[in-house]
Amino acid sequence: MKCRVCREPAVIDIRRHNANFCSDHFMRYCRDQATKTIKEFEMAHQGDRLLVAVSGGKDSLALWDILLELGWDVDGLYVGLGIGDYSDVSGDYVRSFFEAFAEPRGAKLIEVDLRATHGYDVPTASVATGRTPCSACGLSKRHLFDAAARDGAYDVLLTGHNLDDEAAVLYGNVMRWQVDYLARQRPMLAAGNGFPKKAKPLVRLSERETAAYCVLRGIDYQVDECPMAVGNRHLEYKNALGAAEEASPGMKQAFYFGYLREAVDLFATRPAPEGEAGEANTSLIPCDTCGSPTNGDPSGAATCAFCRLSQRSAAAEPVPVELLKTRRR
Ligand code: AMP
Ligand code: FES
Ligand code: ZN
Ligand code: ZN
Repeated sequence: MKCRVCREPAVIDIRRHNANFCSDHFMRYCRDQATKTIKEFEMAHQGDRLLVAVSGGKDSLALWDILLELGWDVDGLYVGLGIGDYSDVSGDYVRSFFEAFAEPRGAKLIEVDLRATHGYDVPTASVATGRTPCSACGLSKRHLFDAAARDGAYDVLLTGHNLDDEAAVLYGNVMRWQVDYLARQRPMLAAGNGFPKKAKPLVRLSERETAAYCVLRGIDYQVDECPMAVGNRHLEYKNALGAAEEASPGMKQAFYFGYLREAVDLFATRPAPEGEAGEANTSLIPCDTCGSPTNGDPSGAATCAFCRLSQRSAAAEPVPVELLKTRRR
């Protein structure tokens, strides 16, 4: 197995591209894929200040590193979700990466702890509101990401979602015809209605590739899945698509990029779900508590979904993560 570029021994094969790479050319391939995606979807422009949300996992740490390597002015944002040891360890990986790879290149790390700043954590919010943990977590993260991007006047908020993530979400949304979500499933969402611009520059890389990138660069990352996510449908969709990809390399990429090319615009006029940006969402009002744009509460008050969740959760007895781990979803 030889590197496609230099003919030295290869360390990785990428079946969907019919290509093998040595370590250096593989890392160059990853950066090139990110650059191509940033340009193609106009994710950022020269001089922009970027904020990348880093979870301590392989994708977002790889993304931060790649953006720094490419010369972008990019700070990191870590949100402590209070999911027991999992969150403690995730935060440690983020801080170690920051000290070794980001701080020396002049970047900053912003840390927001959900319990310290808003008086609750994800397990407690899940029980207090009756939402699944992932739904309480997603709502909290989106709000805190948006707020940090706004407060720091960043031009773009970036996340580490990879091809496997995006294809699995698309698959789930298609299987259930969740058209409002399909309308928003793009690698770049323009700023609008008080929401910052959002981008996912790693949608051309699979999770095997982001993991290999970290290993080859010497980046340590949180390998464990979130204990709250065990058994959720997203992982089942990933497995189903993984089997299809195995039988037919390139299928996942064709599915996702074919959707972007052929179908996403067909849903463009759908209104955005609560707490989400969207050009079609013109009826937003500022939340009476935090000022974020919202559709308002079903009772008529102008309180956003995040503030409703955070008020109920902060008033509840803290719930230890162990209590939720064993629940089936
Ligand atoms: P997930 O929703 O856990 O698959 O994560 C998707 C992306 O969201 C990651 O690649 C990160 O960019 C970001 N992210 C997830 N969790 C956190 C966190 N606790 N703090 C900051 N960013 C996060
Ligand atoms: Fe959000 Fe697990 S990281 S529920
Ligand atoms: Zn090579
Ligand atoms: Zn609010």
